[in-house]
Amino acid sequence: MAMVCLSDFEAYAKKYLPKIAWDFFAAGADDCSTRDENILAYKRICFRPRVLQDVSMMDIRTKLLGNEISFPVGIAPTGFHQLAWPDGEKSTARAAKAMNTCYITSTYSTCTLEEISAAAPGGLRWFQLYIHRNRAVSQHLVQRAEALGFQGLVLTADLPYTGKRRDDVRNGFCLPPHMKLKNLEGAFEVCKMSPLDPSVTWNDIYWLQSLTHLPIIIKGILTKEDAELAVRHGVQGIIVSNHGGRQLDGGPATIDALAEVVEAVQGRVEVYLDGGIRKGSDVLKALALGARCVFIGRPALWGLAYK
Ligand code: FNR
Repeated sequence: MAMVCLSDFEAYAKKYLPKIAWDFFAAGADDCSTRDENILAYKRICFRPRVLQDVSMMDIRTKLLGNEISFPVGIAPTGFHQLAWPDGEKSTARAAKAMNTCYITSTYSTCTLEEISAAAPGGLRWFQLYIHRNRAVSQHLVQRAEALGFQGLVLTADLPYTGKRRDDVRNGFCLPPHMKLKNLEGAFEVCKMSPLDPSVTWNDIYWLQSLTHLPIIIKGILTKEDAELAVRHGVQGIIVSNHGGRQLDGGPATIDALAEVVEAVQGRVEVYLDGGIRKGSDVLKALALGARCVFIGRPALWGLAYK
């Protein structure tokens, strides 16, 4: 079958992935209202198309914190890539480098940061961090990422506890025994108590700044109040995100939250967005509303699953 759009890759992944993996990738919290809204909200936004603008030369390159990428779509951090493809995050890193875009590597990768770096040397990568109860684990990860040449630290702020994803509960989801969260080996066992620290506050940005010279990007901002706090705490970037609707169900679609964040930051930091991007026109809408770049989560996993 000709693969024409992301929905074709979605259908392929749904057909060929084991159900437990498909369900994990697709999951949203509770009723999945926010997950679904992320997509529906784009359909409510219409262009005001202008014509006769000489579009014979188009340049869609952009810069993320000074680093040029070929087009304004990067890969959002998602865990467990080996569920989609045996090479896991190594393949994702290669693909991102081939396309000259940014790959945000998750704390919950099934390949080590070293393996990922070696798979695509010189590719633009940011490291996504969840802060662990055992702060030494997080500190070590940040410093490893910096030493390996990752160029940004993305702090995910919307997961003090994991959202209730019903299919995962029904399936008793956990990683198959031959896959490991390799960057955290020995630090905890995945299916037991969450190792993530729910007591994290804005002050922990200062702690991160004391550990690393990397620019800090905060992921999971949806309001002007938190955008202002992010700027005041010295972050360099904000990702407007609701974790693909996997965390708090009942919050806004990210595209609906974007304008208030952009207005609050007044150009002081870069603003990006993820959630529900499935077509070029979605990207255009996000850029028109002030995002510098967008990131895709599930579609990258569908692509990984394709052979
Ligand atoms: C995620 N997301 C996520 N975010 C993060 O900061 N760290 C992580 O490890 C993960 N893991 C993860 C796994 C899976 C299977 C999904 C689908 C998502 C959230 C991700 O970065 C992003 O916010 C959303 O996926 C964006 O929405 P779309 O593009 O999937 O609609």
